[in-house]
Amino acid sequence: MSMPVIPTAFVPPAAVAPTLSVTSLPAIVGTYKRQAPVFVRGEGVYMYDEHGARYLDFVAGIAVNALGHADAGVLQAMQEAMATGLIHTSNLYRTEPGETLAQWFVDHSFASSVFFANSGAEANEGAFKFARRWARTTNHQAKHEIIALRGAFHGRMPGTLAATDRPSYRLPFRPLMGGVRIVERDLEELKVVLDTETAAAVIVEPIQGEGGVRVVDPAFLRGLRALTRERNVLLILDEIQCGLGRTGSFFAYEQLGFEPDMLTLAKPLAAGLPMGAILVNETVAQCIQPGDHGTTFGGGPFIAHVANHVVQRLSDPAMLAHVRETGAWFGEQLQAMADRTGRVRAIRGTGLMWGMDVHESAAAIIQRCFNNGLLLVSAGEHTLRFLPPLVITKDELSQGLAILETALVG
Ligand SMILES: Cc1ncc(COP(=O)(O)O)c(C=O)c1O
Repeated sequence: MSMPVIPTAFVPPAAVAPTLSVTSLPAIVGTYKRQAPVFVRGEGVYMYDEHGARYLDFVAGIAVNALGHADAGVLQAMQEAMATGLIHTSNLYRTEPGETLAQWFVDHSFASSVFFANSGAEANEGAFKFARRWARTTNHQAKHEIIALRGAFHGRMPGTLAATDRPSYRLPFRPLMGGVRIVERDLEELKVVLDTETAAAVIVEPIQGEGGVRVVDPAFLRGLRALTRERNVLLILDEIQCGLGRTGSFFAYEQLGFEPDMLTLAKPLAAGLPMGAILVNETVAQCIQPGDHGTTFGGGPFIAHVANHVVQRLSDPAMLAHVRETGAWFGEQLQAMADRTGRVRAIRGTGLMWGMDVHESAAAIIQRCFNNGLLLVSAGEHTLRFLPPLVITKDELSQGLAILETALVG
């Protein structure tokens, strides 16, 4: 595994007056509160702002930059793809990179074929459509319902928003798409809800990311797999945040001992270029006909060439061992910090995906970390979320831990 060459000495951006001012930018629709300053460069696990101040990146673009910034292999793959002059062709035509990537997934997973999309939400929306298509094709006219779980986040498009369990995201947009419901993570309740006649699919994140970094109980998931089979309902795993190496296996489901019917991916798949994917098993694949679904950009030759490089890197056994080892160590350090400071309610996570429940507001701690050169994101009002690049070293993690501890006690 080739690690990017990065500077080891941490230089906090003290010379610069750090401003986590929340900026409203009139030319950009105000869906995000963006933090000043302006970022202009990235290298390894660091991002640099317009003043040259350096920030250690424990967000990685929310689990996107698994290989860090300015990774030599990724940049080379982009150059190779550009050199062909074939950035986009339309899905009306065959191109080699997307076919190679799809075959790679078929060779390395339960899937018999793959649909390429442009984002996580779009991958999930497509999976919902495929579930309904499967139901109609197999002569179940009333089978339409998509069931998601308490705490879920599956995206912000009409269907996925209906499957996302956060009132502030949902309420302004009611009525949400029909035929989608959210139920407790409880097998007894699911036994009541999963009606053979009406339920088409259950969608689950093996680790709920936005919902607070909650590792869903593997025994519950195995029970759910058995129940969905018994009731003739598809099981969709949403590995958009937790897949592609983040938990220490290439797919999170490899640690669960069963296979889903569909699996969605996005975030790190093309190293920051927008790409999603729906992996489907044979049962689903044979129900999909030309015209059932489509996208202009999905799986184009440029992006797919880059993604071919990414999947090689993230599936490298040395990379996955690195994630398991550094991730376990990082979890121990977070727990030790919790014990030392008394400022932490709980630690949860696995691999390089961790959450820390704090008594104080997560936003206040994130601001203090930012002021000292560490980027963090929350997962709810009182949860800090840690999603560093998967290539991060223990030394770099230690730098971030030191900043975090100062912010926690401050
Ligand atoms: C588990 C999960 N599903 C779906 C999505 C939506 O992905 P996107 O923002 O690319 O639409 C996200 C994004 O955070 C996610 O974490």
